[in-house]
Amino acid sequence: MKVLVATDKPFAKVAIDGIRKEIESAGFELALLEKYTEKAQLLDAVKDADAIIIRSDIVDAAVLDAAKQLKIVVRAGAGYDNVDLAAATAHNVCVMNTPGQNSNAVAELALGMMIYAVRNFFNGTSGTELMGKKLGIHAYGNVGRNVARIAKGFGMEVYAYDAFCPKDVIEKDGVKALDSAEELYKISNIISLHIPATAETKQSINYDMLKDTPKGAVLVNTARKEVINEDELIRLMSERTDFKYMTDVMPAAHAKFTELFEDRYFASPKKMGAQTAEANINAGIAAARQIVGFLKEGNTQFKVN
Ligand code: 3PG
Repeated sequence: MKVLVATDKPFAKVAIDGIRKEIESAGFELALLEKYTEKAQLLDAVKDADAIIIRSDIVDAAVLDAAKQLKIVVRAGAGYDNVDLAAATAHNVCVMNTPGQNSNAVAELALGMMIYAVRNFFNGTSGTELMGKKLGIHAYGNVGRNVARIAKGFGMEVYAYDAFCPKDVIEKDGVKALDSAEELYKISNIISLHIPATAETKQSINYDMLKDTPKGAVLVNTARKEVINEDELIRLMSERTDFKYMTDVMPAAHAKFTELFEDRYFASPKKMGAQTAEANINAGIAAARQIVGFLKEGNTQFKVN
């Protein structure tokens, strides 16, 4: 059995060593396709793969068609919006993610972006502190929960809204659970986005959501670019010269944001949230173990299709 690690953005070497150990000690073969630049390279590499480990790499019908022996795809990470689930199911391919394995890394980056924003991009001018400010966490999953934990250490007042997580689960962490996203955005000095990109959430962060945020508000996006209505955010930031946008997921309109809002907009050149040795090890090894468990024992825990 051949397991392919196909990552446009490679794991740390130490994580690859750990993945290799899991795969080879199960008697399987490991193949690597890292930093590929053309889809054709991926289509070629998947031809004889029984299993694939990916990150944000696109697995669509073309990839599934090319992968004639494929049985399982594991997205080493949380969001699986990069995998065509319906096509995978039609090809009889199991899709899994590795929830929680990289969430502390993403949460730490979110806090780093908050500090960078309130300290005016370290430009030498007086900024403000996080202590005492209201933080609104939009969606209380694994990353949101870690953001809350760290933010409380900074002395922030932490609020959250999650359409699916019961309020008592949120409140037992010492976080105030609100009834709507609108309510959350109205009171938060800083908003941290942790919603997945789904049909319901795409483009959902729009002018109306953001227009009543307090003066000097900061929006931090370590989730997905698709959840933002970019035209409406540009309109809002043009009207609200106090508003800052910090994102780890570069907008399609990056050039325009840079041109218009140079001193209050930041985008990572490449998504960096989960890019730590620890997160790579945790997510990569979890993915390898899930593949071994599936191929050897039919274990379908973490299946998402
Ligand atoms: C995730 O969904 O797990 C994060 O967005 C990290 O994605 P990455 O593995 O592409 O860095």
